[in-house]
Amino acid sequence: MGDQQYQHAAADRSDQPESTAHITPSFPAQLRRLRRERGLSLADLARRTHYSKGYLSKIETGVKRATVDVARQCDHILGAEGELLKLVREAAPAERAGGPAADGTAPACPYRGLAAFTPRDAAWFFGRERATAALVERVFQRVGGGPLLLVAPSGAGKSSLLNAGLVPALRRPGGFPMPGAERWPVVAVTPTAHPLDELLERTAKVLGSDLELTARQVAERPEALLEAVRARSEGAPPGPDGRRPPPVLPVLLVDQFEELFTLCSDESERRAFVRVLRSLSTGPDPAVVVLGVRADFTGRCLELPELAPVFTDGLFVLLPMSVAELRESITRPAELAGVTLEPGLVPLLLRDAGLRDEPGTA
Ligand SMILES: Nc1ncnc2c1ncn2[C@@H]1O[C@H](COP(=O)(O)OP(=O)(O)OP(=O)(O)O)[C@@H](O)[C@H]1O
Ligand SMILES: [Mg+2]
Repeated sequence: MGDQQYQHAAADRSDQPESTAHITPSFPAQLRRLRRERGLSLADLARRTHYSKGYLSKIETGVKRATVDVARQCDHILGAEGELLKLVREAAPAERAGGPAADGTAPACPYRGLAAFTPRDAAWFFGRERATAALVERVFQRVGGGPLLLVAPSGAGKSSLLNAGLVPALRRPGGFPMPGAERWPVVAVTPTAHPLDELLERTAKVLGSDLELTARQVAERPEALLEAVRARSEGAPPGPDGRRPPPVLPVLLVDQFEELFTLCSDESERRAFVRVLRSLSTGPDPAVVVLGVRADFTGRCLELPELAPVFTDGLFVLLPMSVAELRESITRPAELAGVTLEPGLVPLLLRDAGLRDEPGTA
């Protein structure tokens, strides 16, 4: 629905004088205009792009030149359908041709290599649109009911789906079917050896403020964490009739959940962490808790009594991409980067992945 609104907004813009062939707006002016049209402050844009407010401000005032990545992300968030990327490319023909960029940086590589996708890579993330929509729906249905457990074999794309699928959906106005979701703080954490300490540290970092809580206090009274987060989060303004604004639901993404067994060696710490996650994610105005775990660790998860019920009603299994989705994951980033794939390369890659190309899916 949010996307549809964006599409309409983008279509409307084509009637405006700036987008005619006669006047080509500069990138800074166009970014500022689009941002204001969407009702976003620089701080809002910074939160959603993961670039700092200061850096984006320098781009808007023309002090710094926008990179391809900034343009793509802003296009995505502002629903500008490639308009900003086009302006960056027009300003940097060397970059378009695949040569070194005018600012001396290397041209953007369309592929992430072995690394998982991050929220910053969202504009390059293809082939998982269906899985993202399904995950968003399950997360929504699960609100208040306990953690959602995202399970798949190692390398299936769990971290990428969380970072470049779910997080951008949460940040995009209308991308998650609850009012004000775009303002919810998103804390991404891996358990490490001391999961509760790590959770507190990461949360404080996201909020930019010390929570003044110890792991022990949170273990004893998990709601203290919710209270501390809410006290430091900027919620939506009250409605025009003065009604209570929608509550801030902190989002906790605990990825590489298997670290709870491989790195955390203290059984009581492990159980306390799971108890906290469960408590935070149940009841009214809860936190949204999504756990990403490797399929070969599900047996260990079942050993934790607080986690066992999640296997009955909180499981989300990420299936492998279809051939068509895999094709998209190869061809779409290349298209976006303006590079041409050698003929025969895609079928070769699909064959390497043990799949056969499907005719008519090009
Ligand atoms: N949609 C996608 N398009 C292209 N590459 C992808 C996509 N999703 C994941 N990948 C790539 O697949 C590899 C594994 O992805 P990721 O790290 O997200 O998997 P994972 O399930 O979290 O793995 P692990 O269980 O080891 O943590 C990475 O190289 C990543 O860049
Ligand atoms: Mg992972």
